[in-house]
Amino acid sequence: MTRTPVNVTVTGAAGQIGYALLFRIASGHLLGPDTPVRLRLLEIPQAVKAAEGTAMELDDCAFPLLAGVDIFDDATAAFDGVNVALLVGARPRTKGMERGDLLEANGGIFKPQGAAINAGAADDVRVLVVGNPANTNALIAQAHAPDVPAARFTAMTRLDHNRALSQLAAKLSVPVSAIRKMTIWGNHSATQYPDLYHTEVNGKIAAEQVEDGWLRDEFIPTVAKRGAAIIEARGASSAASAANAAIDHIHTWVHGTPEGDWTSMAVVSDGSYGVPEGLISSFPVVAKGGEWEIVQGLDINDFSRQRIDASVAELAEERDAVSSLGLL
Ligand code: NAD
Ligand code: LMR
Repeated sequence: MTRTPVNVTVTGAAGQIGYALLFRIASGHLLGPDTPVRLRLLEIPQAVKAAEGTAMELDDCAFPLLAGVDIFDDATAAFDGVNVALLVGARPRTKGMERGDLLEANGGIFKPQGAAINAGAADDVRVLVVGNPANTNALIAQAHAPDVPAARFTAMTRLDHNRALSQLAAKLSVPVSAIRKMTIWGNHSATQYPDLYHTEVNGKIAAEQVEDGWLRDEFIPTVAKRGAAIIEARGASSAASAANAAIDHIHTWVHGTPEGDWTSMAVVSDGSYGVPEGLISSFPVVAKGGEWEIVQGLDINDFSRQRIDASVAELAEERDAVSSLGLL
């Protein structure tokens, strides 16, 4: 192997998404079959032993691309030299916790992690925040990494995007490969807006191939509330599908979107589509040469406008809440 390994830091490595994610990173699904990786796992001290167990299993797979696994309970050390940072570990909402408590608890995680990325990350660092509330956690981390371009901080709506593809494919009895230009707008929350007005199925607009009632009363709520439905069914939040979406997100960012298609990523707004500058909101995005760009010039109808505005208003509220907690 002649290439220098890429340093991939995964936080919350001993959690359920971590367990579904690490083996796929190590086997080459994140960065491709020619790129060796060095895994750097960050956990809280109580979970380091469990992370060590996962590292033993990674060893036992004898992955040819895996150059090493290091385990840390200190963010500064874990992010030293990081090229790809997957911020999965977060504080889940527990009984009796208000939204403000959740934002504050996560601020305590993402503020020092942003600072550690600022202090030690490699020049080409790319950050994906998975831990919820993902968009606002990404905003907090980004705010504490002033030396890293803001565009390098992203949050995950690819799972929502994949859920939307799958629901639409089932409705129209087509393979997911027949679908292009799916878009998730806004927050990774129940206010997100999966938009079928620009999506193409076999080259024709999806919204014109389904009934309005299905689009509004079934498709949108099914996609937006899928996370809660999984929790209800599994007794735990989505893990393998979330890990798969994280792999997709980074792979697309690094290797690009296919010609004639785009993806959904929550990225720092430049004011496009009326989303206030600086918010980390999901957009239709194309990726090329390792950089992303928001797709420009789409017509937004009144229905879509209202939905996008509602989700973006929620993001602005979250930003104001963490700002008043001194987290930005
Ligand atoms: P989990 O509870 O199984 O694992 C979380 C892990 O994070 C634990 O091992 C915990 O010890 C660790 N952790 C907590 N604080 C940490 C810190 N400061 N540094 C490093 N590690 C820390 O949870 P999970 O099922 O793996 O989910 C992780 C997060 O991903 C949750 O916030 C969940 O809501 C979110 N999620 C997001 C999406 C999405 O689409 N964006 C989808 C599914 C889940
Ligand atoms: C999901 O979309 O599956 C998760 O974000 C749900 C959750 O609240 O963890």
